Amino acid sequence: MKKNIVLIGFMGSGKSTIGRYLAKQLDYLLIDTDKEIERKENKTINKIFEEQGEKYFRACETQLLREMESSKEKCIISTGGGMPLLEENGRLLNKMGFVVYLNVQKNTVMDRLRDDITRPLLAGDDAEKKVSDLLEFRNPIYEYTAHMMIETDHKTIDEIVEEIIRNYKIMTGDSGIVQQR
Ligand code: S3P
Repeated sequence: MKKNIVLIGFMGSGKSTIGRYLAKQLDYLLIDTDKEIERKENKTINKIFEEQGEKYFRACETQLLREMESSKEKCIISTGGGMPLLEENGRLLNKMGFVVYLNVQKNTVMDRLRDDITRPLLAGDDAEKKVSDLLEFRNPIYEYTAHMMIETDHKTIDEIVEEIIRNYKIMTGDSGIVQQR
């Protein structure tokens, strides 16, 4: 397995925050795919959705993963919440390293994103219904794509980071534990 950690999960699941902590602790480079796309397109995510639509944004995500796939090592890759929706993206993420799904409940998402205006998919009325529908649809896709899932709602950042690093080290053979074959 390649030495990268890929974080997937719903909007507000803590991918960026956990990514920052992991990068610091492991001394890895942090890559945030949303920020990379905003930089390349020279526009905010909101503007990309507004002017070119979601399909175009998804194509940007695929293009970025293709570019990153072979070159990256010792990186924490924090992805946009919809990244694994396209099958090709899921496959690319899987090849890039240890994929961790940060699972989150609807109420936690609502608490965290209550006043957020940067997520086009939750804009407008009835954000709660949008979150429930999207979570229900996406949960199995996140589970299918990831090597490991963590329920994050009642855990501290330190607990989550520790659990990820422990499992990552086992997967990459860095833990001193001899794996049974
Ligand atoms: C999206 C999540 C966002 C961003 C875009 C679409 C999604 O990233 O990529 O707004 O489809 O869930 P975060 O998960 O960082 O909010």
